[in-house]
Amino acid sequence: MTKFYLYHADAFKKLKTIPDNSIDLILTDPPYNLSSYSTGNMKFSWRSDINNDLATWDRNFNPIDLKDDFVRILKPTGNIMAFCSYNLIGKWHETFDPLFDTFQFFVWHKTNPVPKFRKAGFLNSCELVVCMWNKGHVWNFGRQNEMHNFFESPICMGPERLKNPKHPTQKPILLLTHLLKIATNEGDTVLDPFMGVGSTGVAALQNKRNFIGIELEKDYFDAAQKRLKNILL
Ligand SMILES: C[S@@+](CC[C@H](N)C(=O)[O-])C[C@H]1O[C@@H](n2cnc3c(N)ncnc32)[C@H](O)[C@@H]1O
Repeated sequence: MTKFYLYHADAFKKLKTIPDNSIDLILTDPPYNLSSYSTGNMKFSWRSDINNDLATWDRNFNPIDLKDDFVRILKPTGNIMAFCSYNLIGKWHETFDPLFDTFQFFVWHKTNPVPKFRKAGFLNSCELVVCMWNKGHVWNFGRQNEMHNFFESPICMGPERLKNPKHPTQKPILLLTHLLKIATNEGDTVLDPFMGVGSTGVAALQNKRNFIGIELEKDYFDAAQKRLKNILL
């Protein structure tokens, strides 16, 4: 029977209570440190606001602060996959590359990114995921053409996109499912210490993986709890 455990807590404190060698996959989407670049939501007279409001939680994050606990709680056969903004990729690599046999990156290409109305500069249509593991890790290699470090999908929208609360960075289940099916087997335990509204948990439970989630903001935590309970009903 698939299980989940959710904690309304500060990830940096809660991670210390997770037992050594107990997690098969850390699949997470931590803060990006991009909020200082944010100019708030974009307002238009002819359509609803476009979400550009990177929140107060999105600051003072340094992957080095996760290093000891991530290494301690991951099973020897485990994998780590973490969404990562362009400004932090150097820090992730510098911190984690020396600790694992392999460090790779993966690209999520959004087929419907926010348009550039002023037509100056590229659309922000790609997100990076840093991935790391040691020899002997779980890896369900599919056909060669399914194993590119690139995946295309729309951003989260339609009925999947929560309206209340609206999370500015809710990730699509399709993408998370693709990643966790490669890096885990049924019955394994997936951890997301920055779970937002619980998208990683939804993908985990739908695919018969156990899930542990941590979230600091009460509204997001409550939304995640509701979503996950509905899956196991
Ligand atoms: C990028 S979002 C994750 C969104 C998630 N992927 C989803 O689909 O909903 C990062 C989340 O980390 C949470 N967060 C930030 N600092 C935290 C901390 N110290 N402990 C736990 N959660 C934290 C934020 O509230 C935010 O919801």
